[in-house]
Amino acid sequence: SSSSSSSSSLPCLPRLPVLGSLPWLGGGLPPHLLFTRLAHSLGPLFSLYLGPHFTVVVNDHRHAKEVLLQRGREFAGRPSMVTTDLLTRGGRDIAFADYSPLWKFHRRLVHSSFTLFGEGSSRLQDIVLSSVDSLCAELLSSRGRSFDPSPAVTRAVTNVVCTLVFSATYRHGDPELQEVMRYNDGIVQTIARGGLVDIYPWMRFFPNRSLSKLKESIAVRDRLLTRKLEEHKASLSDGDPRDLLDALLQGRRGGGGGGRGRRSSEDDSITDDHVLMTAAEAFGAGVETTSTSLLWILAYLLHHPEVQERVQSELDECVGSGRAVCVSDRARLPYLECVINEGMRIRPVSPVLIPHTALTDSSIGGHSISRGTRVLVNMWSIHHDPKHWDKPDLFNPDRFLDNQGQRATPSCFLPFGAGPRVCVGESLARLELFLFLASLLQRMSFRLPHGAPPPDLQGRLGVVLQPLPYKVVVTPRPGWEAFIVKFGK
Ligand code: HEM
Repeated sequence: SSSSSSSSSLPCLPRLPVLGSLPWLGGGLPPHLLFTRLAHSLGPLFSLYLGPHFTVVVNDHRHAKEVLLQRGREFAGRPSMVTTDLLTRGGRDIAFADYSPLWKFHRRLVHSSFTLFGEGSSRLQDIVLSSVDSLCAELLSSRGRSFDPSPAVTRAVTNVVCTLVFSATYRHGDPELQEVMRYNDGIVQTIARGGLVDIYPWMRFFPNRSLSKLKESIAVRDRLLTRKLEEHKASLSDGDPRDLLDALLQGRRGGGGGGRGRRSSEDDSITDDHVLMTAAEAFGAGVETTSTSLLWILAYLLHHPEVQERVQSELDECVGSGRAVCVSDRARLPYLECVINEGMRIRPVSPVLIPHTALTDSSIGGHSISRGTRVLVNMWSIHHDPKHWDKPDLFNPDRFLDNQGQRATPSCFLPFGAGPRVCVGESLARLELFLFLASLLQRMSFRLPHGAPPPDLQGRLGVVLQPLPYKVVVTPRPGWEAFIVKFGK
């Protein structure tokens, strides 16, 4: 990397001691919009100081591909942050753990455990479909009254993850399910607000309401998951794993951690903490993202009733009303897949992914980047780049079809990231999005309450980019009027 001449020209925002470039990041815009605006004046690749941390921001597809794919291994690190260290017992998880041989083994173990319950078997489909049935019954029980779909959708997705992780299936109102949702919400509400703490670690010594609420929620989470873990250890067999906890417990015995032939010690094997943090992360990474994507897509369907109708005629043609939708219908419902993709393009729930760090000295776009540099990939700006998308602010699922009417996925569409740090839950998430939306739209139609304005599409950035609350009215589609009687509680 002898491109020192170009490294001097990597644009950088001014900075002050301690504050870094913060004074130049005013205006109250969320980071993905702020960075997109800065890219207009500074170019698609620029740098700034988040407090003391030199940070490179990537706003276009070409450089994102370098960071995530071409030099993916070199940029596969994660910075250590106060809130996430608390959340993950110092990085014994997947998403926030820095790169290491043990992390690699752990990630592979999680990935294969997901696969076990995913494509290979019908278990996952059964889990999702039973949750979908209760969600449909619950929504239809509104009987024409308007309501906010968010709590029911979040509960349904939480239920899927509970079954997948520790085999619990809850009925509506179960106190344990409510506990899971409460602590998850406590984490979601506080982790993003801890923002400043993550720039200035010394702030943790000052009283901080968010941080103590976060600690409280984590304690409740850990109590519940530890109980599940102990129950699983006591009843573990060599047979087929019942759920993700079984698969992790069985897999860690077979694998042996960081390196074969090496002595297994606390430092290079998958400990109880790792298993626990993985289970916790299935909630942390898998619930808010999936349910929020569903809510964005519903919001856009309310803006575009013609899209909803087209999905429904595709469903009528290919599935009908005589049976439930299943995974094998996916290839027959290309337009629905386009709608899902377009929803994730126009409102990526994780608009700047998770921060990456350079593990070695490397380069981006010919600019040398030194080890330890933080890199933010602004997927929002890539998904809205007018050079790659015609009228990027328009919700238009047809852009995911080629001129033969076949599905086509442009390479600058990366809602799950790419490369060594790509989302481990991608196929699970896609399966859930498909089965939830297909089943909902097969059985009911969504519309705005009388006289209500369509949902606000600006969104609000918490842990994920989410729509502001909105209300819907649902009506059963022909053939599904009696559904609530069949499946309702
Ligand atoms: C990472 C998106 C659902 C588990 C990520 C990343 C994105 C993402 C953008 C960061 C990639 C990067 O930093 O480069 C999504 C979206 C989802 C979804 C849009 C749903 C629509 C899930 C689910 C699970 C999951 C259901 C698991 C149950 C993870 C984990 C990571 C991750 C463990 C960290 C991977 C790593 O750092 O190596 N996801 N995700 N996600 N996701 Fe997802």
